[in-house]
Amino acid sequence: MIDTRVSIAGIEFKNPVTTASGTFGSGREFGEFVDLNRLGAITVKGVADKPWQGNDSPRIAEVYGGMLNSVGLQNPGADYFIKEDIPFLRQFDTKIIVNICGHTIDEYVRVTEKLRSADIDLLELNISCPNVKEGGMAFGTDCKMIEKVVGAVKKAAAQPLIVKMSPNVTDITETSKAAEAAGADALSMINTLTGMKIDIYRRKPVLANKIGGMSGPAIKPVALRMVWQTAKAVNIPIIGMGGISDAEDAIEFIMAGATMVSVGTANFSNPTATTDTISGIEKFMEDQSIKNLAEIRGII
Ligand code: FUM
Repeated sequence: MIDTRVSIAGIEFKNPVTTASGTFGSGREFGEFVDLNRLGAITVKGVADKPWQGNDSPRIAEVYGGMLNSVGLQNPGADYFIKEDIPFLRQFDTKIIVNICGHTIDEYVRVTEKLRSADIDLLELNISCPNVKEGGMAFGTDCKMIEKVVGAVKKAAAQPLIVKMSPNVTDITETSKAAEAAGADALSMINTLTGMKIDIYRRKPVLANKIGGMSGPAIKPVALRMVWQTAKAVNIPIIGMGGISDAEDAIEFIMAGATMVSVGTANFSNPTATTDTISGIEKFMEDQSIKNLAEIRGII
């Protein structure tokens, strides 16, 4: 008999699979393909204090081995999210992780305060979005700023706090340790790597924002290496992500030290990538006589 349950900060998940923020909306779009009750958690697109329009189009480009995005955290704001999306998500037997964003520490704190009494399970602090001029990656690549923003949000938060880390740094173990020291209950990694695509016939960047964040299978080895290094450097759980498309990818991340995994870009080409991954993990555990994922977590 296998047991796929995992826990993070005292919250128990029925299995280790969630969705990468921004690739699954708030679940509505995927509900017709996937039984949302199967998911360990749904991690929703970034939510800010007030609605954000996002960046100009084009803001998505396909590239070899993945895609670039420069959405700019478009979202309808916390009030809409609380009124419309939480009741929708609560119909399903899954945990809710809310990715939160801001341009300033005050904005991060305000959205956190709005969510204090919301019926959600965890917060994911997005300090790693490469597509906004203020906030995002500007916070997540500087240890001092990480300490300030994580400390302020942790103080304001009613739910456990995951901090989403940027790979666009020299040493991710240093930024991760800064987040842990400031009160993070868990880390999620990695957000996208900054990238670019040029249309040589128009002689222009394909993205209106010129650069964007790269995700998809091509970044998996980088993400895996960062999860493995960080798992040895911190004492809090990690949600691994970056190019996970199937169970084999997910198990690699768990063996590297991740407690949970997020499926992201794969959702766009295979809408059942999340549930396929869960079924594949179950099969692997059965075939390999693994009763509990703790038996293989961090064995590398
Ligand atoms: O631009 C975006 O909405 C992407 C967000 C992120 O990478 O965190």
